[in-house]
Amino acid sequence: MLNRRLFLQRTAATAAATPLLGLLPALALEPEIESLASLPADQYWKTVRKLFPMPADEVYFNTGTLGVQPKAVLEKVIAAMRDAAVNCAKTDYQGKGPLLLSGYEPYVDLRKKIAALINASSYQEIALTQNATYGMNYVSNGLDLRPGDEIINTDQEHGGGRAGWQVAAARYGLVYKQAKLPVPANDPQEVIDSIMSQVTPKTRILAIPHILSLYGVILPVKEICRQARERGIFTILDGAQAVGQIPVDVQDIGCDAYYSSLHKWLLAPAGNGILFLRKEVVKDVWTTLASYQWENHDDEGFRFTQRGTGNPALIVGLEAAVDFHNQLGPRTVTNRIKFLGDYLRNGLRQIPNVEIFSSIHPEMCAGITTYGIKGVKGVDLQNELWKRKSFNPGLPRKTLFATLPTSTTSNTRSMRRWRS
Ligand SMILES: Cc1ncc(COP(=O)(O)O)c(C=O)c1O
Repeated sequence: MLNRRLFLQRTAATAAATPLLGLLPALALEPEIESLASLPADQYWKTVRKLFPMPADEVYFNTGTLGVQPKAVLEKVIAAMRDAAVNCAKTDYQGKGPLLLSGYEPYVDLRKKIAALINASSYQEIALTQNATYGMNYVSNGLDLRPGDEIINTDQEHGGGRAGWQVAAARYGLVYKQAKLPVPANDPQEVIDSIMSQVTPKTRILAIPHILSLYGVILPVKEICRQARERGIFTILDGAQAVGQIPVDVQDIGCDAYYSSLHKWLLAPAGNGILFLRKEVVKDVWTTLASYQWENHDDEGFRFTQRGTGNPALIVGLEAAVDFHNQLGPRTVTNRIKFLGDYLRNGLRQIPNVEIFSSIHPEMCAGITTYGIKGVKGVDLQNELWKRKSFNPGLPRKTLFATLPTSTTSNTRSMRRWRS
């Protein structure tokens, strides 16, 4: 088992990121990712780290909110924006010159790549959206629901997975329910029972996260969707935290709808999401942001993708992020995330007074770990970690938290100022 002091030192070192005050470092040329494959694991990941634009001595822990764009992505976004600005006069709307606006294009090749990534049966099941919140709202606004119909959420939804259903309930007289989830959640059956106990003959919609926002718990969605399907309930999963963090296979899960934000774990530029609608149900969902294609039932995903003028450079960046992820290898990435998450959790479990609120069940955890120290405020813990590494590098590391003031426990993933 990892030596406790070594763990603390390494954790302190990785927690020592300073704020993004400086200018972006000059973008270096990329090594070919394929040529890295022969490197031993530690060298491999050190080299991969160099593919990101952040200063080498900073570490970023907030991918659950927004991922860091690799240099390859960032460069392509900047180049596309520059091209549009410089060469806009050459655009003739017949294919010549730079694409000036997104929101009207079908983006078939990109949607094919995304379909492959989450194992949709075809690109027509995939729509490009701005983010997960759009995906949820497209479905909550798009389904025909009647007064008295019941919707089940959990009590641990992000606003982007909850509010659209609450609006629909308030507007159409639906019954909105929340299943109470255990904290920490270490027994998949307990989660299944809690959610399924809310089901009645009037339940029409089961809308739950694939991975919980706050605690990073992976819910047993396949079994829940199976039981819901048997009862004719429409299942929609909030995969904002899942795509890029864990393998996602929508056919295996058997859900009707699935949405995600690709600017988190897939490292796309902010403002990129997807909505998957299974081909058997997609015709039941009205288009919310309607434009020319609103009735296109040959390419259903296109009618949801078309949403008026947007920045095409962001879609260029999305494609570059998908390519980057595929070049590293989706399994290589998700295995690495799981390895690092387990490393952190195993180390935390050796520190007295540390409480882990996330799951430690091997199938229910990956890259997000929410933890606290009894009697220590999250903000104090965060400040202390920064201080000891960045501002007091010479401080003896006897016991990392020895001098912390004691007060209430909270988690360190507390960047959620704007959220309820
Ligand atoms: C589970 C979950 N759903 C939805 C969202 C909303 O994502 P976005 O703001 O990209 O729409 C988040 C964001 O953190 C999330 O964690």
